[in-house]
Amino acid sequence: MRYIRLDGMPLAPSLICLGGGPLGSAIAAEKAFELLDTLVEEGGNWVDTAHVYAAWLPGGGGVSERTIGAWIKARGVRASFMVGTKGAHPHLETMHISRLRPTDITQDLNESLERLDSDYVDIYWLHRDDPTVPVGEILGCLNEHLAAGRIRSLGASNWTAARLQEANAYAAEHGIAGFCSSQIGWSLAQPNPVKAAYAGTLNMDADTLAYHRHSRLPVVAYSSQAGGFFNKVTRASVSDPALADSGMAVHYFNETNFSRAERARELAARYGCDANTIAVAYLLNQPFAGYAITGCRTPQQVRASCAAADLMLSAEQVAWLEGEAG
Ligand SMILES: NC(=O)c1ccc[n+]([C@@H]2O[C@H](COP(=O)([O-])OP(=O)(O)OC[C@H]3O[C@@H](n4cnc5c(N)ncnc54)[C@H](OP(=O)(O)O)[C@@H]3O)[C@@H](O)[C@H]2O)c1
Repeated sequence: MRYIRLDGMPLAPSLICLGGGPLGSAIAAEKAFELLDTLVEEGGNWVDTAHVYAAWLPGGGGVSERTIGAWIKARGVRASFMVGTKGAHPHLETMHISRLRPTDITQDLNESLERLDSDYVDIYWLHRDDPTVPVGEILGCLNEHLAAGRIRSLGASNWTAARLQEANAYAAEHGIAGFCSSQIGWSLAQPNPVKAAYAGTLNMDADTLAYHRHSRLPVVAYSSQAGGFFNKVTRASVSDPALADSGMAVHYFNETNFSRAERARELAARYGCDANTIAVAYLLNQPFAGYAITGCRTPQQVRASCAAADLMLSAEQVAWLEGEAG
């Protein structure tokens, strides 16, 4: 496992972070504990969750954070294991009304701390952005929570490069903490526009990638394995009736991705791993710090995803995976 420091986080985070969306709901608590145990065995030291996770299930709101809090308590690992949670997501029944005012942030943070059964969150992400709310107002609120010790570091999820830049310039000018990283949808597979446009989420595009390569602002990638695309799909999958209307086909079937999967398989054969591991390693071998949030369902998947952190790819291999000649 490799680790790279992120400003403010108490420990250098592992390049692999476990995705916590289904923990305690689609993945029952006992199984969730097993996944978290396996992550730690592999050297992983953080999990990603959110205030809104499982709120779409009857009685599900907060179950991911509660399950993680219960595991941390059961294992006694609060000082050696980090939690990132996200807040200020719109209410699901009123997705068009943003919740990014200081009262929204403070309410969600306090509830998350209670569910996690902790006095602090290692990194607090804003789950969405609303460009009509001034960055100074948002950062002012977050910095108060930092000063009070309720948050250790700040991140922004689904924020554009322009807004990140504006926020971090404001922070530098006013001598306060800015965002240490951006959490955005990113994998070696490029999503089709229908996925890219989903409910205020943002995916990496060429301009954003160029921004990170230039600014070196770290990226924490979600949906980093494209749902397992690289191990599941070949060009022939286009004519597989079982996949015809699947989310995989709708979101990821395109020529760029079929070609990238072929290259990932070619490199995987050389390294004796699977194509998914290569696809994750692509994210972790950039000129800026890249981390992958991996949504694993089994201990075996956790181990295979963690293996990507040990794979060093050259800049030429990264460019070649993207499709550049060479
Ligand atoms: N900030 C945001 O707005 C946001 C949005 C979405 C997600 N997230 C975060 O990201 C996490 C993960 O999202 P995701 O589920 O979309 O991620 P993902 O890792 O791209 O997809 C998860 C799927 O990939 C497959 N998989 C997992 N490990 C694998 C491995 N080692 N080899 C091959 N296939 C593997 C599994 O498919 P099978 O189940 O078919 O085996 C699994 O269900 C969430 O839990 C959440 O923490 C954040």
